[in-house]
Amino acid sequence: MHVTYSFDRKPSITQIIALYDSSGLPRPTNDPERIQKMYDHSNLIVTAWDQDFLVGVSRCITDWAWSCYLADLAVSPEYQKTGIGKKLIELSKEKAGLHSMVLLLSVPTAMEYYPKAGMKKVENGFIIHRDC
Ligand SMILES: CC(C)(COP(=O)(O)OP(=O)(O)OC[C@H]1O[C@@H](n2cnc3c(N)ncnc32)[C@H](O)[C@@H]1OP(=O)(O)O)[C@@H](O)C(=O)NCCC(=O)NCCS
Repeated sequence: MHVTYSFDRKPSITQIIALYDSSGLPRPTNDPERIQKMYDHSNLIVTAWDQDFLVGVSRCITDWAWSCYLADLAVSPEYQKTGIGKKLIELSKEKAGLHSMVLLLSVPTAMEYYPKAGMKKVENGFIIHRDC
């Protein structure tokens, strides 16, 4: 297993959907157009590859100066717990820059994960939920 990381390599929608479905990341993978739109409007996408196989992704939206919202983080099941998720978060923060914080919402099963990946839990967050 030799994993490489990229800021430039664009995964196909098919690869993204396969990664999300296999990892169990809850995203609307039954609606490829919506997934495409999510990627079209994201400006920081860090990917992890084993040759041509997409093994992980961190999809972010950032202003490069204050905030970086990490919208999706997923690692392919057979590659999990080898440090890829942590590396994707580190690279996202590094690329977003010293002035940017990195924010995310966790699924319940990852609540114990993010502190291990170097993130702090906050109590001052608020949300307006999506309608559908
Ligand atoms: C959550 C996820 C991204 C973690 O990625 P990963 O590459 O497996 O994690 P890492 O290898 O970076 O793990 C770093 C540490 O966290 C631990 N860890 C991994 N997943 C964990 C979890 N769900 N809960 C608690 N600890 C976890 C690892 O054992 C490792 O511990 P160590 O440093 O003591 O060895 C990955 O499991 C995944 O894709 N899950 C399905 C999709 C998902 O839930 N995404 C998050 C949405 S908010």
